[in-house]
Amino acid sequence: MFKTIDDLDAEQRLLVRLDLNAPVEDGVVQDNRRFARHAETLRELLEDGHAVAVLAHQGRPGRDTFVSLADHAEILADHLERDVDFVADTFGEDALAAIEGLEGGEVLVLENARMCDEELPEEDPDVKADTEFVRTLAPEFDAYVNDAYSAAHRSHASLVGFPRVMDAYAGRVMEQEYTANSSIQEREFDGTVTMALGGTKAEDLIPIIERVDDTVDRFCLGGIVGELFLRAAGHDVGYDVDGTDFFDEQWDEQRETIERILEEYDESLYLATDLAYEGEDDERAEVDVEGLEKDTSYLDVGSDTAETYADLVRESEAVFVKGALGVFEDERFADGTVAVLEAIAETDCFSVVGGGDTSRAIEMYGLEEDDFGHVSIAGGAYVRALTGELLVAVEVLEDAAE
Ligand code: 3PG
Ligand code: MG
Repeated sequence: MFKTIDDLDAEQRLLVRLDLNAPVEDGVVQDNRRFARHAETLRELLEDGHAVAVLAHQGRPGRDTFVSLADHAEILADHLERDVDFVADTFGEDALAAIEGLEGGEVLVLENARMCDEELPEEDPDVKADTEFVRTLAPEFDAYVNDAYSAAHRSHASLVGFPRVMDAYAGRVMEQEYTANSSIQEREFDGTVTMALGGTKAEDLIPIIERVDDTVDRFCLGGIVGELFLRAAGHDVGYDVDGTDFFDEQWDEQRETIERILEEYDESLYLATDLAYEGEDDERAEVDVEGLEKDTSYLDVGSDTAETYADLVRESEAVFVKGALGVFEDERFADGTVAVLEAIAETDCFSVVGGGDTSRAIEMYGLEEDDFGHVSIAGGAYVRALTGELLVAVEVLEDAAE
């Protein structure tokens, strides 16, 4: 196990890796749950008198979302209700000068780590530890804290290099995410365990079924993934917008696997019995699966299905949610996703909700985050945790504790 910030000496100079990677709309960085969560860790560190330099990333070179962290510093300042300094440099002279001026109880955000050439190439942690980036920054600090669980599947310098050469600790977000997201592999549950599985990318989602089948008793399927299984069950479904073949391509690639899983997991797979679509008057319309048509775009599971899934959740001791069951961003097609979330919130089952933006449905539909066991801010790392895959940055933190 890794060391946590409980193990830190007082008043240290800390290099703290956060995951502030956020949506960017028209060049403007959007606040999201990640800021609020990491602000909690920072608040605790600052109250303990540590001096904190934040290392984080945004987007990838070549994408519209690849921008400076200047906005991120301001958003963090709002959450913390205190000044947060920013320096447009990561480990050059300007950065070093700003770090030198940093005092206990103060926080400074360094520029986007992915603007440094040595950050991104996926390489062994020992190679990353030997970069200029790591060798320049490490001596400026007493210790390194990694709070970026949601980026922990990446073998990047800022995530795996520092723990090789410094005392390294897990922040609160790292600790909480790790414990909750590994529970599907680590914990024993006496009662029924249910997983709601939705979303669009079959290649990510299908392996989950086979990797968690010891723990999970039943899977409630929705989204594109659910439709792929409906097609395997003989239904005429899988709309592709003219000129694209996203669904058909996934079908061709995954067909054999899906057919095999459908047969093997006959007892534990729940498929939708009805689906929702946009009717002629723009209203939500529904149809039983017997009446499905390939040229209709289905956007949610139907009300009967939503009710069945909610009942299954209510009978469960533990519920894991990965991905949305419909296009919940559109109120008309949120019923499936919201029915499952409401059922979780109502009962006192152990629960973990994650996967892309699924957790956003909790805010959008006025549910209380406190009514859920854990709401993950991780995407790719959550999927990997569900399948029991180790996260490289977590492994390096654990090594550092030995
Ligand atoms: C994320 O947002 O998924 C993490 O921050 C990792 O970012 P990446 O997928 O661009 O590596
Ligand atoms: Mg990602």
